[in-house]
Amino acid sequence: MKYGVFSDVHGNYVALKAVLDFYKRNGVENFICCGDIVGYGPQPLECAEALRGLKNLITVMGNHDAALVGKMDLKWFNPNAAWAIEFARGKFTGQAMDFLSRLPERIETKDFTVVHGSPRKPLTEYLLSEGQFTDNAGNWTVSPCFIGHSHMPLYFSEGENGIPETDFIKPLVKIFVKGKLMLNPGSVGQPRDGDTRAACGIYDSDKKYFELYRVFYNVETVQKMMEVLKMPGILSERLSFGF
Ligand SMILES: [Fe+2]
Ligand SMILES: [Fe+2]
Repeated sequence: MKYGVFSDVHGNYVALKAVLDFYKRNGVENFICCGDIVGYGPQPLECAEALRGLKNLITVMGNHDAALVGKMDLKWFNPNAAWAIEFARGKFTGQAMDFLSRLPERIETKDFTVVHGSPRKPLTEYLLSEGQFTDNAGNWTVSPCFIGHSHMPLYFSEGENGIPETDFIKPLVKIFVKGKLMLNPGSVGQPRDGDTRAACGIYDSDKKYFELYRVFYNVETVQKMMEVLKMPGILSERLSFGF
């Protein structure tokens, strides 16, 4: 089965639509989202509603989602991030609020594991080093484990000789699952690896490989919306640079 794997949409509905269109063009009908649906961007409700409407979606809760629903204190966020969470909170009621509130911090199926940050600290750990990958080994079993949170397309694997390996994931390079593998598909709505395009992946659970894609969307359209809403300038400016 082919899964569209994506993360960190962060209220960027223009980018999310481009990614969902990309999946549609490629016949992908099953989806895995690694959390942070809201925060930073101008259309958090539209993103949540679009994901709530997807038939075959598996998604976990991210730290920004947790803050919106009151499961995490805003003191853990910088002032700009906190501003965007409070802005988003004002838009969520009823079914959209229920959807976000009920997201689990971790999902494990027979084919994969999904968390936002890391298996041991799903809401808070930025998994960026081989050492952290090794330290998390006892906290998950089903490989691959899809993660988000750092907004960097990265993989971590056991490597040969038991020495863990990590590298950035380049577009269109197949990453095969051999042993324990963690994959971060990067961010749809706020990439931080210097590429302004939305990042997303496709995982083939039969052939057991993951491929990353970058999808163009109109950054200026999003920035204009953010300007009208008087969102903190840095949140808009960083989309022009992908950082
Ligand atoms: Fe995020
Ligand atoms: Fe996060």
